Amino acid sequence: MVEHQFGGPWTELKLDAVCYYLECYTKALSQRRFDLWFVDVFAGTGERTSERLTGGLLESQPMQWVSETLPGSAKRALNIRPPFTHFIFNESKRKHQKALQAIKDANPSLDIEIIGQDANAAITEIFSRPVWRRGSNGGARAVVFLDPYALQVDWATLELLAKTQCVDVWYLFPLHDVTRQLAKKLSGVGPKEKRLDKVLGVAWRQLYELPLPTNQMYSRTLFGSIPEFAEEEYRNATKAQIETWFKSRLEKMFPYVSEPLPLFTNIKQQKFSLFLAVANPSAPAINLAQKFHRHVLKNYAPKASRHTFAH
Ligand SMILES: C[S@@+](CC[C@H](N)C(=O)[O-])C[C@H]1O[C@@H](n2cnc3c(N)ncnc32)[C@H](O)[C@@H]1O
Repeated sequence: MVEHQFGGPWTELKLDAVCYYLECYTKALSQRRFDLWFVDVFAGTGERTSERLTGGLLESQPMQWVSETLPGSAKRALNIRPPFTHFIFNESKRKHQKALQAIKDANPSLDIEIIGQDANAAITEIFSRPVWRRGSNGGARAVVFLDPYALQVDWATLELLAKTQCVDVWYLFPLHDVTRQLAKKLSGVGPKEKRLDKVLGVAWRQLYELPLPTNQMYSRTLFGSIPEFAEEEYRNATKAQIETWFKSRLEKMFPYVSEPLPLFTNIKQQKFSLFLAVANPSAPAINLAQKFHRHVLKNYAPKASRHTFAH
């Protein structure tokens, strides 16, 4: 077994939210006889290992860290009912590809394709295939899961997906990492500009034209150190402004973009914003996506904002 250690409770929340949507999606679209694809271009190994603190007073057991192995996006997608017809799992790391191959070998009756490319190259290749040429008039529909560790999804990839007119995209936007790339002044961004151009498109410079939020008053503690909660405020744009701006950018390309599900890795830090973007311009497709997403927010937003993370 290849161990893939990453994430925490927020990772489960992310997968629960996406998988809830996948269940609603296949239930609704398989009745309409669409050919359903699940495309996971940062597929990992199909599993993830995580450390969890157990025991304590309530359990009357000594506290200890236990390691647990949980299904990742690929394995969870295979268990969605009604099922998708086709699965494409892409992964750039050789060891992870082997683990995905083992999942494919264990499920010979399923149509699973394993690709070993950079995620952006994989999307370009997959969506240049003839099956996608007919856009929203064809019978093929896909959910694409973009689940990177950091700034790895190119803006051009999102543009390409929007043009297909037949995919729903779940994008784990790395809000914290984007915030960290932005210097207080535009002139201070320096060599990071190229990376930001790739991930946000050249329009990210607009973030330096936004009005300063009223709470952007820097106060130092008595001892002169910067309070941790104010970290983001030492940049011109706050995380909230960056998230809102990014949503508005997606809305210029996709007919529907959801409110993001905020994912916190600890009580103070929103690390990611999980967006759903729908490329299909038809009203029934948008209405369905909106309806499913309302349930996603109802079920998972309270857990996301409660920030009750054990570690
Ligand atoms: C956050 S993990 C994905 C987890 C997976 N979705 C799951 O739920 O188990 C990100 C994965 O993307 C892979 N990766 C990193 N950069 C990549 C790239 N440019 N293209 C494709 N895969 C990449 C990593 O090796 C890692 O397995």
